[in-house]
Amino acid sequence: MTSSENTEEFNLVTSASAQALEERGSNRSQRPTSDAFKEFMASSWAPAERVQHGRDEVASYAARRRAAVSAQFPGERLVIPAGPLKVRSNDTDYRFRPHSAFAHLTGLGLDHEAGAVLVFEPVDEGDGDDGSDHEVTLYFTPMAGRDSEAFYADARHGEFWIGPRPGLEEFAQRLGIRTADTGALEVAVTKNAGPVEFGGTRLRLLREVDLDVDALVDTSRINTAVDLETSDAYDGALLESLSELRLVKDEWEVAQLRASVDATIAGFHDVVAALPRAVGHDRGERIVEGAFFARARLEGNDLGYDTIAASGNNATVLHWIRNHGAVSPGDLLLLDAGVEADSLYTADITRTLPVTGEFSPVQRRIYDAVLAAADAAFAVVRPGIRFREIHAVAVKVLAEHLDDWGLLPVGLEESLAETGQHHRRWMPHGTSHHLGLDVHDCAQAKRELYLDGVLEPGMVFTIEPGLYFKAEDLAVPAEFRGIGVRIEDDVLVTEEGAENLSSALPRAAAEVEAWMRDIWGAQ
Ligand code: GLY
Ligand code: MN
Ligand code: MN
Repeated sequence: MTSSENTEEFNLVTSASAQALEERGSNRSQRPTSDAFKEFMASSWAPAERVQHGRDEVASYAARRRAAVSAQFPGERLVIPAGPLKVRSNDTDYRFRPHSAFAHLTGLGLDHEAGAVLVFEPVDEGDGDDGSDHEVTLYFTPMAGRDSEAFYADARHGEFWIGPRPGLEEFAQRLGIRTADTGALEVAVTKNAGPVEFGGTRLRLLREVDLDVDALVDTSRINTAVDLETSDAYDGALLESLSELRLVKDEWEVAQLRASVDATIAGFHDVVAALPRAVGHDRGERIVEGAFFARARLEGNDLGYDTIAASGNNATVLHWIRNHGAVSPGDLLLLDAGVEADSLYTADITRTLPVTGEFSPVQRRIYDAVLAAADAAFAVVRPGIRFREIHAVAVKVLAEHLDDWGLLPVGLEESLAETGQHHRRWMPHGTSHHLGLDVHDCAQAKRELYLDGVLEPGMVFTIEPGLYFKAEDLAVPAEFRGIGVRIEDDVLVTEEGAENLSSALPRAAAEVEAWMRDIWGAQ
């Protein structure tokens, strides 16, 4: 080793030991530490307003959901974290969004409340909340008010930084739920740990939502005589149950979904209005994305998922979210977007729009085939049919069109057989997924209740057939290449059949053209 390398190594060692790396984050802080400053910061603030809050409308619905969970796991402690803030870069976090199961059981949407944990504590049969078998408590670190140093010193919890937020008492009033400071969480989760046969309490955790809570539960489980496989099975059953609980929406949830759909339709309107500006711009898809996002933030909390703003051949890329392409005259623009309401319920809608306002004959032919598939799928939706039938019906119609166009390399029957499926080259995704707090809702439900499940009133899902002919697809005629079409609507199963929640957005080609003309005519 040369002497200069030696010196470098020495410098590295000494600089690391002079100040621990974990303390470096505050190297740019210049906050005064004098007693005079602290005293002054603690004084002369108007008293915080004390307001009596009524119950949030969602409270009784969330209470019923908690009672349903309680009934499934009598005698067991259930731990359901909201999740922590997630780092976007260095010390900058993403805007907080709680785990959907936590939102479902508390009714808390918006950005409430990072690091919170819901604990179901088992009590004697019927002695719990609303006659259930559990007392449920929401643990969180409340905002630090004007009476504490954290008020101005804690950027994550201090009111000076994050603005006023509901405290323990306010959330208790609004949600009709016990609340407690996070300081009490450790005891609440770990007390009475031990083998169930010796009077210990069985624990189930919504795992991998908050790693600190995972660690707390895992530590507490060390002495419970339960092996990892068994505890994983306990936790898995809780996750599955919380997912299945959301398969049928209550009336409050349906109202939220209607509001998300309405805001999304307004966003599609905004996009059409912005299309002339997008045309010719080398990143016109970003103009489309931005127009929709503005509506999502204006009327809702956020997007339910990243917008797909895909023009021309980009529409054949199923998850095109880069959105940096041009929007050119003659292209079709596939817009797949959804507004997430403040309650966190999201819509999921797709329309495929002719950029200049009129479909070409070949675009129209493909569009009409996709529409026929969607219509056929709608027609079968009613309580009692199996979820998987919707996809089967839609795909059959698409396969028939592909056969008519001479694109299938085998006969229609052979393609439709399980051993064939050649038509899926151009429609490789599913036709439907449940929709709610997550865009792909209820994803951990058992197959028997999801794909093989029987439809019930109150279920909400998408119908979204499509056809995608890539520019480089040599199995189709040149005129088909570079065209991607999807039509996606959000459907509520009713007692009689189905309601298309997004029917206010034009679907048929001529209606789409007329709608675009009207928007442009009014500009
Ligand atoms: N946008 C995601 C989906 O349609 O499933
Ligand atoms: Mn979808
Ligand atoms: Mn979609």
